[in-house]
Amino acid sequence: MPNTILITGATGNISSGIIAQLKGSEHSLRALVRNPEKAEELRRQGVEIWVGDLEKPWTLGPAFEGVDTVWILSPPGPRAPEQCSNALWAARQGGAKHVVRMSAFGAAHTAPTINSRLHALSDAELVASGIPFTLLKPHYFMQNLMMAAQSVAQQGTMYFALADGKMGLIDSRDISYFAAHVLTTTGHEGKTYTLTGPASLSMHQIAAAIGGAVGKTVTYVPVSIDNALQSMAQMGLDDWMANLMCDYFKAYSANWGDMVTDDFQRVTGKAPRSIEQFARDFHGAFGKQ
Ligand SMILES: NC(=O)c1ccc[n+]([C@@H]2O[C@H](COP(=O)([O-])OP(=O)(O)OC[C@H]3O[C@@H](n4cnc5c(N)ncnc54)[C@H](OP(=O)(O)O)[C@@H]3O)[C@@H](O)[C@H]2O)c1
Repeated sequence: MPNTILITGATGNISSGIIAQLKGSEHSLRALVRNPEKAEELRRQGVEIWVGDLEKPWTLGPAFEGVDTVWILSPPGPRAPEQCSNALWAARQGGAKHVVRMSAFGAAHTAPTINSRLHALSDAELVASGIPFTLLKPHYFMQNLMMAAQSVAQQGTMYFALADGKMGLIDSRDISYFAAHVLTTTGHEGKTYTLTGPASLSMHQIAAAIGGAVGKTVTYVPVSIDNALQSMAQMGLDDWMANLMCDYFKAYSANWGDMVTDDFQRVTGKAPRSIEQFARDFHGAFGKQ
C-alpha cells in the first residue's frame, strides 16, 4: 500500500541513499532539510522538500503532518538526543504509524563511546514512545576509509589509531538499501537490527584488500591515540568530534567491534558488500594522486 514517508537528514550520506532507493516507487516521499538550496537536486527528482530544523521543534510540524512512516537520522553531536526527541515528538503529533531510527553499532547506556551512549538515550525514548519502531544499528562505515584515500594514493600507506583491532565494517550503501527495505515492507515493528558487513577485519586485512584493488602494496601503519588527536586538531576537527573519534579508536583497538551478524542477509535475502567489492568500486579514489 502506498505510504507517505518522511526522510530526515535528507542531504546526508545514508538518507540520500535511501531516497535514491525509493525514488520512483509507489510511495510519496518527503525530505526534511535545513537548507532548501542544498535540496535542489532532490526537488528535481520529484521529492517533496520540507524545510525544518531538528533543533527548532516549532519548525517541524508541517513536514510531519499526516506522514505514515518516519526515518529519523541525526548527525553525531552533543545535541543528538535533543534532535531525535524533537523529531519523535513531531512524528507523534503528525500521527506517524512507524518510526525507523538510525542508531549505531553498540548503542547502550554502558557503551565505551559517548556517541553510543547518546544513541542509547534516543533509542530508549523511541522504544518508550509507544509508536511502533524499528532500530538500525550499523557498524563502522567502509566509506570512513576514504579519509585514507590521499595517503594510499601518494604513499601506499593507511594511518589509523586502531591497533590490531578487528571490526565488522559495512558499506554505507547497504545501510541505505536496508533502511529503504524496512521503510517499505512489513514485519519490522519492535525489531532492532545490527548491520555489519560479511567479515570482521583488521586494518591490515583492509589495507591488503585496497591494495588488491589499486594494484599496489598498501600498508597499514598503526598510530597512537595522541597522534590521531593531534592530526584531527590540525585538520580543524572540533574537540568534541575529535574526542568522539578517539573513544571509537580506543574501543575498536580493544576489539569492541569484532563481530558480524547475519541481519542484513536474513532480512533482505542479499549478501552485504565485502571489503573487496567496496575497494573495487572506489579504487579510483584510492589511486588518484
Ligand atoms: N560513520 C560511521 O561509521 C557510523 C556508524 C554507525 C552509525 N553512524 C551514525 O550515522 C549517523 C550519521 O549519518 P550520515 O553519515 O548519513 O550523516 P551526514 O552525512 O553527516 O548527514 C547528516 C544530515 O543531518 C542533517 N542535519 C544536521 N543537523 C540538522 C538539524 N539541526 N536539523 C535537521 N537536519 C540536520 C544534515 O543536513 P545539512 O545538509 O543541512 O547539514 C544532513 O542531511 C549518526 O547518527 C552516526 O552516529 C555512523
